[in-house]
Amino acid sequence: GLSASAALARRPSVTGAELRSAVPLPPPFQVPLPIPAVLKPVSTSGGADRYEITQREASAEILPGVRTPLWTYEGAFPAPTIEARRGRPVTVTHRNELPVPTVVHLHGGRTPAASDGYPTDLVLPGGWQEATPHTGHGSAQGAHGMHDPRAVVTRLTRDYTFPLDQRPTLLWYHDHRMDFTAPAIWRGLAGLQIVRDDAEDSLGLPAGPRELPLMITDRAFAADGSLDYPSLDPTLRERPGVREPYLAGVLGDVILVNGAPWPVHEVDAARYRLRILNASNARHYELEAVSDDGRRLDLVQIGADQGLLAAPVTHRLLPIAPAERYDVIVDFSGVPVGGLVRMVNRLGSGRTREVMAFRVARKATDGSRIPRTLSTDLPAWRRSDAVRVREFAFRVGQMHGGHGWLIGGLPFDPARADVTTHLDDVEIWRLVADVHHPVHLHLVGFRVLSRSGRPPLPHDAGLKDTVSLRPGEGVEIITRFDGYRGRYLFHCHNAEHEDMAMMANLEIL
Ligand code: C2O
Ligand code: CU
Repeated sequence: GLSASAALARRPSVTGAELRSAVPLPPPFQVPLPIPAVLKPVSTSGGADRYEITQREASAEILPGVRTPLWTYEGAFPAPTIEARRGRPVTVTHRNELPVPTVVHLHGGRTPAASDGYPTDLVLPGGWQEATPHTGHGSAQGAHGMHDPRAVVTRLTRDYTFPLDQRPTLLWYHDHRMDFTAPAIWRGLAGLQIVRDDAEDSLGLPAGPRELPLMITDRAFAADGSLDYPSLDPTLRERPGVREPYLAGVLGDVILVNGAPWPVHEVDAARYRLRILNASNARHYELEAVSDDGRRLDLVQIGADQGLLAAPVTHRLLPIAPAERYDVIVDFSGVPVGGLVRMVNRLGSGRTREVMAFRVARKATDGSRIPRTLSTDLPAWRRSDAVRVREFAFRVGQMHGGHGWLIGGLPFDPARADVTTHLDDVEIWRLVADVHHPVHLHLVGFRVLSRSGRPPLPHDAGLKDTVSLRPGEGVEIITRFDGYRGRYLFHCHNAEHEDMAMMANLEIL
């Protein structure tokens, strides 16, 4: 209720207590920017691509000289990227060798419900099927000719099928297990999936080495090099009797881009296409590109979460909430060779103010262009198309005797249908927030209609699947529930808020 909100607003953790790393941190702009490897399909026959991904523990040298254990897809953080074509189905067989059950969700995918990664549709780890504990270590047949449970244990797998009948864009796949998504993503379960098509390819946008995926995350490192993830709010650890989860969301003091701390990338003096994803659990950024001489470079936005805009929108400052993607062109041609362009986070302070840097290494020719018309297929739903208006409050509240994050006063319950709608219905949703909540709808893209009664902001352009509600704000969105019937979700994409029940069911009949 209100008094809970008022009390929480006074707590420092609500504005975000940042974890402090307990290992030495490198100076910025020393580590080269890694580009995640592209995953090779195991087969490409029959007009579809098949992939296999093993989820397993691995370790990596994220900070120079420090070994960090991770949970990974295929041993890597970020996971390998899946390159896909519009309308060409992709099937991914996930095998779970982690110590915990997992769920895979392709964020932004137009995916049938069975493959959408509902939070209780688990991929069990191998070994979880053992019915009885066994002793000794005989053969698979068992020492006494009895049935040894290990003989029937299979590494359990799950096939996820993605039709990818959707606008080309940058998607990402990540864990989505009920109540445990945030620590799983934090430990490394996140990767990119890019969808392309011929129309986009023919636009002449910067491509090849001049197209860079940038997955931004923040993390903190414990003294042993592991990723520090608190189960309880550290600002309350010292107060006897007070045991609250980390309500605000977990913030780290190290900014990683593609898994490297404050990296640097050598660029030509030319246009680059930056495909930016904020994969942080809870951190919001306001990005700007600042050159040595203090000049702010234009960030020319060409795409949003769900693909190309109708026309480019130029920003100097780009806010990006957890799970949002921005497709941005930056032109380094005006920067002298040898110059450094820093990507700065205006919301950060100290170390978290820097994100990465680009070192202009050489003059170069540039055949790329930014067409004035980028796409003509954006849905243009009008208010009068909507058959219904719904309102949802995203607010803190009481749950199980403590605090949780609630939608419409209710914590997530897989057994409750929160929204029931019909295939192809157009709806307007009014979303209101107490503090910052990035709200994500599965399956559909939507357009932002208004913010607190005013027109949307410049960065609300295009088709989105995640919208940042700012404190106290009311945001109207409009969408059509098309594609597939079934049970989907909407939720806050502050991953800690999501785990603390800020999620609801969306049933399409
Ligand atoms: Cu990025 Cu429901 O998730
Ligand atoms: Cu939230």
